[in-house]
Amino acid sequence: MLETVIKRDRDLGTPARVSEQTVTLTIDGQEITVAEGTSLMRAAAEAGINIPKLCATDSLEPFGSCRLCLVQIEGRRGYPASCTTPAENGMVVYTETPKLHDLRRGVMELYISDHPLDCLTCPANGDCELQDMAGVVGLRNVRYGYDGANHLKSEKDESNPYFTYDASKCIVCNRCVRACEETQGTFALTISGKGFESRVSPGQDQPFLESECVSCGACVQACPTSTLQEKTVIMMGQAEHSVVTTCAYCGVGCGFKAEMKGQEVVRMVPWKDGQANRGHSCVKGRFAWGYATHKERVLKPMIRKHITDSWKEVSWDEAINYAASEFRRIQGEFGRDAVGGITSSRCTNEETWLVQKLVRAAFGTNNVDTCARVCHSPTGYGLKQTLGESAGTQTFDSVMHTDVVIVMGANPSSGHPVFASRLKRRLRQGARLIVIDPRRIELVSSPHIKADFHLQVRPGTNTALLSSLAHVIATECLIDEAFVAERCETKAFNEWRDFVSLPENSPEAMAEITGVPAQAVRGAARLFATGGNGSIYYGLGVTEHSQGSTTVMAIANLAMATGNVGREGVGVNPLRGQNNVQGSCDMGSFPHELPGYRHISDNTVRAQFEADWGVTLQPEPGLRIPNMFEAALGGSFKGLYCQGEDIVQSDPNTQHVAAALAAMECIVVQDLFLNETAKYAHVFLPGSSFLEKDGTFTNAERRISRVRKVMEPKNGKSDWEVTVALSNALGYPMNYRHPREIMEEIARLTPTFSGVSYEKLDKLGSLQWPCNDDAPEGTPIMHIDAFVRGKGKFMITKYVPTDERSTRRFPLLLTTGRILSQYNVGAQTRRTPNVMWHSEDVLEIHPQDAEDRGVQDGDWVGVQSRAGETVLRATLTDRVQPGVVYTTFHFPESGANVVTTDNSDWATNCPEYKVTAVQLTRVSQPSEWQRQWSRFADIQQKLLRERSRESEAALTGK
Ligand code: SF4
Ligand code: SF4
Ligand code: SF4
Ligand code: FES
Repeated sequence: MLETVIKRDRDLGTPARVSEQTVTLTIDGQEITVAEGTSLMRAAAEAGINIPKLCATDSLEPFGSCRLCLVQIEGRRGYPASCTTPAENGMVVYTETPKLHDLRRGVMELYISDHPLDCLTCPANGDCELQDMAGVVGLRNVRYGYDGANHLKSEKDESNPYFTYDASKCIVCNRCVRACEETQGTFALTISGKGFESRVSPGQDQPFLESECVSCGACVQACPTSTLQEKTVIMMGQAEHSVVTTCAYCGVGCGFKAEMKGQEVVRMVPWKDGQANRGHSCVKGRFAWGYATHKERVLKPMIRKHITDSWKEVSWDEAINYAASEFRRIQGEFGRDAVGGITSSRCTNEETWLVQKLVRAAFGTNNVDTCARVCHSPTGYGLKQTLGESAGTQTFDSVMHTDVVIVMGANPSSGHPVFASRLKRRLRQGARLIVIDPRRIELVSSPHIKADFHLQVRPGTNTALLSSLAHVIATECLIDEAFVAERCETKAFNEWRDFVSLPENSPEAMAEITGVPAQAVRGAARLFATGGNGSIYYGLGVTEHSQGSTTVMAIANLAMATGNVGREGVGVNPLRGQNNVQGSCDMGSFPHELPGYRHISDNTVRAQFEADWGVTLQPEPGLRIPNMFEAALGGSFKGLYCQGEDIVQSDPNTQHVAAALAAMECIVVQDLFLNETAKYAHVFLPGSSFLEKDGTFTNAERRISRVRKVMEPKNGKSDWEVTVALSNALGYPMNYRHPREIMEEIARLTPTFSGVSYEKLDKLGSLQWPCNDDAPEGTPIMHIDAFVRGKGKFMITKYVPTDERSTRRFPLLLTTGRILSQYNVGAQTRRTPNVMWHSEDVLEIHPQDAEDRGVQDGDWVGVQSRAGETVLRATLTDRVQPGVVYTTFHFPESGANVVTTDNSDWATNCPEYKVTAVQLTRVSQPSEWQRQWSRFADIQQKLLRERSRESEAALTGK
């Protein structure tokens, strides 16, 4: 997967066609058989004959504008464009004749006469299709001269931070416009003007930055010239080699070619063969990788005795030995269980495996948990109970076979943009859409897409709404009886049917609770049950509730009741937030489970690990993250190893978390930056970025993809090497030479991974688990003939209102989410030009609620809850319903989690981020917490700066 020279992916000109019918024709004397509907251009290309082209590319539907691809067909007049002419049985086609050569040269002459002839200084020199085609058609001179009307003085648009639009180089091939429409689904570009005047235009002749453009870069990738060009290529020139790797942002898991010059990334190009993204990407993966070389990265290990002390830079050995001795001291004084670890959903499977192994084998406790606790732990629990496996059931490709989609508690356009583009494409083809969300997300109404139903549910009432949908399906005889009889447990199903059929679960009875009109619920239920292949995609708006696990089970019930599991186009699909949430759960990060979701109390499973690891493992589950905090405040939990996770910013009730951390004696943080958690740390171990290490990520489809090192770790060590060193210092030897060997251990001990190896991943590109003897090339779709647990199990999902209710004191409900340009706690994206789109978290408030409180757009408002208070700037919008306010949590100073409470899911303790009762008041200054945060942050920055001065002094001897 390492290319030593950059090769442009072969472009077959037009997209593949899928058909059972074939046609056979002759091109340049060769007999060729292709699927019906295939263009002449593609048919020729599949036989190795390249017809010159400019406006055609195989990722986009043909357009037929450049006239370079003309061919001659026996028995037909004229010279049709091969990109728009379908192959037919018996056709005899010629692609190279003297007449065609003349015509093509004439076309190229016209293009070149209106193109700056600055090839030698053009950033695309060597990577330009116009240049290539001039060579291919044998253009030798331009008869028209360059004095006539031309566009050579057109102005550049450099407003976008990542790419430039140089109109003087545009050949008006329309590829960018089609990429924006077909691939991305944003429709931000048009060709404005006619004939000679026609030019590409974002929005209403706006600069890119001010238009609807979401900076996905699909147009830049599609542009055959240097008109749309990455600024890094303009600055650095063409790359020299490339390495295929996987995006480290969201759970879509897009494959990329990192195009490199030595140790520097020139650009990230979405990998055409990437099975999750099929050559597309979003602004984060394609452009927002600059954080990896940001000046604020901490590259040297540091230690300090107290969090009020300056940091001292030390060698890796000293830092690791200090951490190990502290952990052992604490265990000596306070007992074995006084320490624990937190794994990261941003790190690789191999790194996560090592951290949980270190905690269980070297610490000798099961006090290990993961940030998935605070996002998708209810998915793990709910899907295991009902379907038998803690994971989504489909591939992303499956959405192209769906007929009706429910999107619930997820905002794919922001959180999972590449999946959103695919979904939108299917919706434009005619699939129907039901959105269940308190907020009017972009999918409800976007270019050429309108949801059939938007069930604007009141926060905290998801379970009630799903019961009312199920009520309609059960009482209007819409259940897929044959599927249920064959595939599900009869007794549990009958109990469930009786339960959802109760009058109290009817849409009419539930409307008062959910706020959704009964007729809309009835319409949506009928559509889902009768509309063909039905699929459900959901996100944290489902899981982060006191009934998160119940709602996940209700989703599984709905899918089973309508027969929508076990084939293409259907299924239950949790959209995972971070790149490796699925993987961190698979790798045994939860305190009660060994890798592969096997309970720690299972003697047989534990014995396998004990034999392999050479230690005795504790049979009792350890502490979950919230229990660790409680124990820390109670004085029994004193030491924490936290890899790649910023619990102070991301966990609820910030003040509670901070107090717990302040009560501990040794916190070891392994991260790229001095994040909020690191401000409470005693040992800082510099982390490495995804560009600096080898390993694997597992995306939301259970797809395991390789992460490949494209540059040497700037801190001298990959993250897995640091954990190995810490374990060795603790006296538990780990001896891996490469992450490949860790994967071999994972495969040895985890039945669903037994067939996974780096060799196979290199060969096949990626693998979806289970991957074992029964499925050596992985399992794209789960539960095909039977559920993993045998029979599917319906669960009773009674609605229990959350304790967090709006009252006279706290009359509004706050819910949270994320935005496209930022990612999670923002540690990475805040350190990129993405801040141009979102430089602070704001509070969305309905104009009616704002008016009641005298709040105007842009005002500072105090947001008070039972847990705390913060101040945010108000944005008035009817995207939220009256009574509901919304914010994001990408900036630490916003303090969104100062306000969220300790309430959590009954089964998994996943925090109830999505429902917090609040009151708003207009204010003129930051909250007390924000003032304290600023003071503390300043002190910590000063202590960090002092470490630099001390190290410098040590180096210079002054
Ligand atoms: S970057 Fe993406 S959204 Fe913006 S114009 Fe190009 S294709 Fe459209
Ligand atoms: S900007 Fe590029 S892709 Fe778009 S029309 Fe011009 S040359 Fe074609
Ligand atoms: S959709 Fe997700 S995985 Fe793909 S490029 Fe964007 S952030 Fe990365
Ligand atoms: S490539 Fe066929 S008309 Fe442009």
